[in-house]
Amino acid sequence: MRPDQTPQVLNLPALLQSPYNRALFPEGTPLVADKRYSCIGLYNPKSPENVGSVMRAAGCYGVASVFYTGKRYERAADFVTDTKRVHYDIPLIGIDDLKKILPLNCVPVAVELVEGARPLPEYTHPDRALYIFGPEDGSLDKEIRDWCEDVVYIPTTGCMNLAATVNVVLYDRMAKGLNTRSGPKFR
Ligand SMILES: C[S@@+](CC[C@H](N)C(=O)[O-])C[C@H]1O[C@@H](n2cnc3c(N)ncnc32)[C@H](O)[C@@H]1O
Repeated sequence: MRPDQTPQVLNLPALLQSPYNRALFPEGTPLVADKRYSCIGLYNPKSPENVGSVMRAAGCYGVASVFYTGKRYERAADFVTDTKRVHYDIPLIGIDDLKKILPLNCVPVAVELVEGARPLPEYTHPDRALYIFGPEDGSLDKEIRDWCEDVVYIPTTGCMNLAATVNVVLYDRMAKGLNTRSGPKFR
């Protein structure tokens, strides 16, 4: 490199100019933390087909990341139903407890066909949501439902399969557009 050339890294915008820096930006200056997103949590999913189909839905609807618990799916992991190879683009992360990965300011929402849940058509989605789904051959237990801020259900006759439920919840979120809790001030 010639002495008059500046290394690329020195051309990065100064962090000091971020509105997070209250020394330079007075109270009331809008923060940049205004982006809505969704994540998915899968509680002990049964099979690679289940997870693959969920990954495909995640890719279609722009989900930020997918977390799962349990070992059943890992034992036979492949991504047969994730033909678009979404798992390369969206992080798929195994964890022992979904409670440990809740991002700051993100609202956990249990999705389960259960007494006392709120009907999805009338639900206003959180700006940042972690939607948690039960396994194909079980349900979300009371402990995880109680930990979630909201429990929602889709008013179907009988339950859907896991991937179908994920698609419906994400479609509902998309169809409601900017109508998350903070409205249009979120991007
Ligand atoms: C196939 S279902 C589980 C099987 C079901 N518990 C049973 O009695 O056979 C898999 C998961 O999809 C979700 N699910 C399916 N249908 C739903 C509905 N109508 N409303 C909300 N969640 C639903 C739940 O998260 C559930 O744990």
